[in-house]
Amino acid sequence: MSHSLDTLISFAKRRGFVYPSSEIYGGFAAVYDFGPYGVELANNIKAFWWKEMVQKNKDIVGLDSAIFMSPRIWEASGHVGGFSDPLAECKQCHTRVRVDQLLEEVGVQADEKMSETEINALFGEHMKEVSCPKCGGHEFTDAKSFNLLVQSNLGDFTNDGSEPVYLRGETCQGIYVNYKNIMDSMRVKVPFGIAQIGKAFRNEITARQFIFRTREFEQMEMQFLVAPADEMTWYDVWKERRWKYYEALGINMNKLRFKQHENLVFYAKEAYDIEYEFPFGFKEVEGIHARGNYDLTQHTIHSGKKLTYRDPHTNEEYTPHIVETSAGVGRALLMLLSDAYTEEDLGDGDIRVVLKLKPALAPITAAVLPLMKKEGMPEKADEVFALLSEQFRCEYDDSGSIGKRYRRQDEIGTPFCITIDFDTLTDGTVTVRHRDSMEQERVAMSELMAYIKTHLTTSSS
Ligand code: GAP
Repeated sequence: MSHSLDTLISFAKRRGFVYPSSEIYGGFAAVYDFGPYGVELANNIKAFWWKEMVQKNKDIVGLDSAIFMSPRIWEASGHVGGFSDPLAECKQCHTRVRVDQLLEEVGVQADEKMSETEINALFGEHMKEVSCPKCGGHEFTDAKSFNLLVQSNLGDFTNDGSEPVYLRGETCQGIYVNYKNIMDSMRVKVPFGIAQIGKAFRNEITARQFIFRTREFEQMEMQFLVAPADEMTWYDVWKERRWKYYEALGINMNKLRFKQHENLVFYAKEAYDIEYEFPFGFKEVEGIHARGNYDLTQHTIHSGKKLTYRDPHTNEEYTPHIVETSAGVGRALLMLLSDAYTEEDLGDGDIRVVLKLKPALAPITAAVLPLMKKEGMPEKADEVFALLSEQFRCEYDDSGSIGKRYRRQDEIGTPFCITIDFDTLTDGTVTVRHRDSMEQERVAMSELMAYIKTHLTTSSS
């Protein structure tokens, strides 16, 4: 059953996944906070990515570079000069719009490399067809290039803005500028990859679609360095590996597709997006880019440092080419919520909301529920909580009827509810109730840990 974005937004807020930023001060556009269950889910997404990309690969190393970097890096990378979107204003309500997005909505593609004059000519041709997302108007100002880099005044003691510093617009630049350090300190040989998870910032013009497009977000990026002749072979390898990753993440694969970029960003030779069918249509969750030697060449020119690699077997010296995989944590989280959110009609007007996440990704793995607040049950429940919380994120809930407590856990996707009842006190067994099937089994407390570990690896609860 499909559901609207509004359903997801209110669910995410009501159940502690995502809150609008600075809400008591009237909000702060295009910035969101992850609540208690949101941060658990985001951490699980990141841990899953790290395991698949770094832990399970002999040829990928990790990195955590700083958000602040020399402004020279952003000049070299081309972001200061070329990382911009065409911005226009509705003449009626003064809403700012991204011209390329408005054109795309009416089936017209604006090329990334178009000049301001060219994009305005195209915009002029189609202005009557596009409409303002706020008031529906058809009159707009001319488009102007709007740079997406977010500036900071860090270290600008003169305050005259002569030395702008930027918050990073993509995490991978921290990887390129550490390439030499990694070559010098690690025993790595091309082909190999460098992976990093971290915050990125962009002055996005349009801030619609909830956490899909935000001004502060987290990226999970991997840059795979290869010999020039091998770039497109590795590009195909990574396209296939990343597709399989989404299968492993438990996503409904009918809702995913590859889309080749018609209009390439300034750094890319070839690019594919993996798109997911959100309530607002198919949209990018990850980009896979063949970046050639663009970045390392730019950094060689601007830093004056040699960034070539000498192949130990052939003695050939070259600037490695890059195959990049780049995914957003927030987008992955929205995709998972969208994919897992289910309303089950149990009859008689009883609707059960269940978040059918892959069990290993669920914010809470096990809920510990003493049937009563007396008769020694809380003490036993404490024991179970202490045991399980050594390895899993658990929640203790002793309020309300057991049925209501099960439903609360279903809503946040908890795969296992452990009920401590009268039998627990006499025979040391607990009831394990499964989220998806709602089936219940008796399991000995002594076997509970092993039981949960086994069932966590199955695809549904
Ligand atoms: N280093 C390449 C790069 O940054 P991108 O296509 O601009 O490529 C990669 O971004 C991924 O980062 C996207 O697929 C998306 O998941 C995430 N992302 C980009 N901009 C975002 C934004 N404003 N809000 C949330 N996620 C974003």
